[in-house]
Amino acid sequence: MTGKICGTGSCIPEAVWDNQKLSEMVETSDEWIRERTGVAARHIALGEETTVSLAAGAARAALENAGMSPEEIQLIIVATVSPDKLMPTTSCEVQKQIGAVNATCFDLNAACTGFLFALNTAQAYLSQGIYRTALIIGAESLSQLTNWEDRSTCILFGDGAGAAVLRASETGIYGLVTHSVGDMGEVLTCSSRNRKEYANGPAAPETYMQMNGKEVFKFAVSKVPEVIGELLEQEGLTTADIRYFLLHQANERIVRSVAKRMKTDMERFPVNIENYGNTSSASIPILMDEMNRKGLLKPGDKLIFSGFGAGLSYGASLMEWQ
Ligand code: ACO
Repeated sequence: MTGKICGTGSCIPEAVWDNQKLSEMVETSDEWIRERTGVAARHIALGEETTVSLAAGAARAALENAGMSPEEIQLIIVATVSPDKLMPTTSCEVQKQIGAVNATCFDLNAACTGFLFALNTAQAYLSQGIYRTALIIGAESLSQLTNWEDRSTCILFGDGAGAAVLRASETGIYGLVTHSVGDMGEVLTCSSRNRKEYANGPAAPETYMQMNGKEVFKFAVSKVPEVIGELLEQEGLTTADIRYFLLHQANERIVRSVAKRMKTDMERFPVNIENYGNTSSASIPILMDEMNRKGLLKPGDKLIFSGFGAGLSYGASLMEWQ
């Protein structure tokens, strides 16, 4: 038994901040940002838009795409590193908003690897026959955790949410390889504002995302091809068997470098970071939803999802589009 994806959805904030706007906020330029990252614009959650509202919007779109009612969902997992509240969980708030009264709900934080880990977790429940349906969501308001005065990070990130509905299926394949490297945690950090030392006074720099960009870059371009190779070997496949590699959209140069190292054409490494920036756990499901709605995913296509991020953590999962 595996879980097949039977619907996808996404929800993107209305406001668009292009590189020109950022160049009015910090010393940078459209040319620098495009060349180093591939990002042209990012969407920012403002006003009533929150991590919960984005997650619920993506969930509704995925349910509609699947032709399912919220009551049919038995499990909701939200991957997020930027929840609006610590309690109740984002997943329970989504449950309330969409009326998925029969679902068990919990959140999962694996930073930018979050959607991949949520997919793996849902697959584990479905393959064991514990639940027959699941809704998994990656949702972020990273703009809340971004230091808009730090040009080395603020140019990268954006807000948004993506979701997938899964249904248990007798057919199909699923394989995964995951790793965590806690020893490298310091290269990408963000302290909680709830800690006593940060609770009073102006927000401390430690409570925004801080990153050693070069180290993250080196980590991603070496570990992503490695973990995909591990997965292919484990499943007895080669890169030629895979229709698309859906990578976490952290930086277009990372995706290009991975494709090159794997001697695989970029056509099989879709990229949409130009319009969204890095949306952490939301980037893979937003990309998948775009591809699904464009009719690019065909039954029988083997897909590899690969994520990496704070922790550090990384992994790759294989599934067949049904
Ligand atoms: N505009 C203009 N100049 C800049 C900017 C900017 N926004 N940011 C840095 N610079 C300058 C630096 O000060 C430096 O100047 P110097 O040479 O005079 O000292 C120069 O540009 C080069 O800076 P680097 O940091 O070496 O630039 P690099 O090529 O490494 O690019 C970047 C930086 C884009 C952050 C890159 O390292 C990267 O993408 N890393 C991966 C980041 C990532 O993927 N993070 C998220 C992954 S996990 C997750 O998704 C949460």
